[in-house]
Amino acid sequence: METPWEHRYAHRTQRMASSVIRELLKLTEQPDIISFAGGLPAPEVFPVKEFTEACNVVLRDLGAQALQYGSTDGYRPLREMIAEHSVRYGIDVTSDNIMITSGSQQALDFIGRVFINRGDHILVESPTYLGALQAWNAYGAEYISVPSDENGMNTDLLENALRSGPKFIYILPNFQNPSGVTLSLERRKQLVKLADQYGVPIIEDDPYGQLRFEGEHLSPVVVLDNQFRSGNGSYAGNVIYLSTFSKILAPGIRLAWIIAPKEVIQKLVIAKQGADLHTSTFNQMVAYEVGKTGFLDEHVKIIRQTYSERRNIMLETMEEFFPSEVHWTHPQGGMFLWGILPEGMDAADVLKIAVKRKVAFVIGGPFHPNGGGENTMRLNFSYSNPETIREGISRLGFVLKELIANGK
Ligand SMILES: Cc1ncc(COP(=O)(O)O)c(C=O)c1O
Repeated sequence: METPWEHRYAHRTQRMASSVIRELLKLTEQPDIISFAGGLPAPEVFPVKEFTEACNVVLRDLGAQALQYGSTDGYRPLREMIAEHSVRYGIDVTSDNIMITSGSQQALDFIGRVFINRGDHILVESPTYLGALQAWNAYGAEYISVPSDENGMNTDLLENALRSGPKFIYILPNFQNPSGVTLSLERRKQLVKLADQYGVPIIEDDPYGQLRFEGEHLSPVVVLDNQFRSGNGSYAGNVIYLSTFSKILAPGIRLAWIIAPKEVIQKLVIAKQGADLHTSTFNQMVAYEVGKTGFLDEHVKIIRQTYSERRNIMLETMEEFFPSEVHWTHPQGGMFLWGILPEGMDAADVLKIAVKRKVAFVIGGPFHPNGGGENTMRLNFSYSNPETIREGISRLGFVLKELIANGK
């Protein structure tokens, strides 16, 4: 029977398909499946005790304020704490350049709302973060994609893409979701230079930057851009920088931040007023209470240690069980690695069999906005414990060997 809503959906909903990732996450709800599909942090590292204490302190000392409406740009002490942290990492900003959002996902949506007109071209690396595509599709974005390799977006191919006049460049420089690769310093500099030459601003999405297990810290694109433009490193405003508490504290509190020039913050604040007025005051105050004495610096060390062990186990087990025709990335941090199947093999076929054998991953195709990548797969190593990783990877290796032997 026809419902009264059927013909009333806005045009924008035509491109609002549910993300493949969300659909696949449903698979993880089967209790006996080993899932490398979701992008979930390890639950074992959530600082439950610190949260319990912080909740108590906030309610005891600032209860009425915590339960009241708050300002749209966010709780000032939290924004000041983030500004101090940013300055330590070379991003020379004040709290006036910072707005708190309910997750970086919301920041991506607001960026779409504030900047994207129907038909605008956004320059992205391919593969790129599916959540950004999902947010921006609703605003009618089209994508110019630049392929990436083990050193991130191939900036040799960037100039050509820039000639078509994109609205902005969207880049994930550290341990990228989905591929796990990191943009090299040389390419970061080239990106900044070309963006300047073509007058195109950059959105830098950096949820994983602090989760490096090996290799040297590389300056964020925003820092290199500031050095390039202002000489003294003060914030030049060409890069909007996003980061989140989801991967360094807990995703359930839905707390992230956006660094932008003040005039952009003003627009974003208006977008946020229309969306949710402000991010939960209570959550912001609790996160500030947890973080204010430097707890996060110690806590990220534990996360790095845990994820590095899990990545190592995954890599070792892949080496042991995967057929030699399959290749994969070696991420220096973050939560994901990327499998590359032989040309012509479809990861969706692998997934169908894998799910029957009770192991899941995310197929790589949907992360490529203009198609391709059917032979790729994303594997998450942060969520499962080492034994589960071993068992899951050995099952997956078995499936892959079987399919390759059968010429699939
Ligand atoms: C690249 C990237 N951007 C944004 C997000 C969204 O993060 P949040 O939990 O802060 O909404 C994620 C989450 O996985 C991500 O990988």
